[in-house]
Amino acid sequence: MSQIHRGKTALVTGAHQGIGRAVALRLAEDGAHVLCADLGNCRETVTAIQDAGGSSEALSLDVTNESNWASVLNSRQSGDDVSILVNVAGVLAKGPDTLEEISDSDWDLVMGVNVRGAVNGMRAVAPRMVAAEWGRIINISSMAALKGQPGLLAYSASKGAVVGLTQQTAVEYAHTGVTVNAIAPGVTETPILAGMSEESRLSYSANHAIKRLAQPRELAALISYLAGDDAAFVTGQTISIDGGATIS
Ligand SMILES: NC(=O)c1ccc[n+]([C@@H]2O[C@H](COP(=O)([O-])OP(=O)(O)OC[C@H]3O[C@@H](n4cnc5c(N)ncnc54)[C@H](O)[C@@H]3O)[C@@H](O)[C@H]2O)c1
Repeated sequence: MSQIHRGKTALVTGAHQGIGRAVALRLAEDGAHVLCADLGNCRETVTAIQDAGGSSEALSLDVTNESNWASVLNSRQSGDDVSILVNVAGVLAKGPDTLEEISDSDWDLVMGVNVRGAVNGMRAVAPRMVAAEWGRIINISSMAALKGQPGLLAYSASKGAVVGLTQQTAVEYAHTGVTVNAIAPGVTETPILAGMSEESRLSYSANHAIKRLAQPRELAALISYLAGDDAAFVTGQTISIDGGATIS
């Protein structure tokens, strides 16, 4: 077990399940104390971390609510110690996500969680990281930001916005010891795919040059690298981890 994040506190949103859970487990395995934050309950994630000998606590957080970020961080005894933030929480539209069919409420939901949620998180922790002269922020974009796909209008727009805000904040903070990067995953095996037909699953697999879907732990390994000292010269990047989908 590597201990590259020993002594660091990481906050992972969306840690109840899927990619967020895998990231929380990996950062804890690599030595961080991990704050698992989600609208849903993170108890299972925290228990899995503790059973593996790691250190973790659960936080109830709605990423879209800026005052909720402040109260959650301030409620911790040492709320100013978060030096790694991974903004994983994200949603797809509930209904059709096309120009002519998307509802206003779905547009607001997708933008609220995927864009405003990430901005709220960065705003809440960046000043503390700047004061400490060290910080790592990792946002989750998507292959959908880089390659057109039907039926993902708001989703791809939101993930494109994540690329932009990652670049902008990276430049703003470049002189402070704080790096900001994003990853752009291909289709990944998580509960977000629940309800997808076997036919769609096979067709998504075929769209990746490596003919399969991603596993959450593969994304978590890249995020753990970006969260460490070795990645100090990487900033403002959106790194594709998509089995070659965007180059084939
Ligand atoms: N699974 C994929 O194929 C894929 C591909 C590319 C990018 N992504 C992105 O990766 C991230 C995680 O995806 P996943 O597949 O693990 O999804 P998931 O649905 O399995 O998990 C998302 C988590 O976010 C939480 N969440 C939703 N709204 C929230 C809010 N307002 N506040 C706090 N938490 C909230 C949910 O409770 C859930 O635990 C998302 O940003 C998603 O867009 C996923």
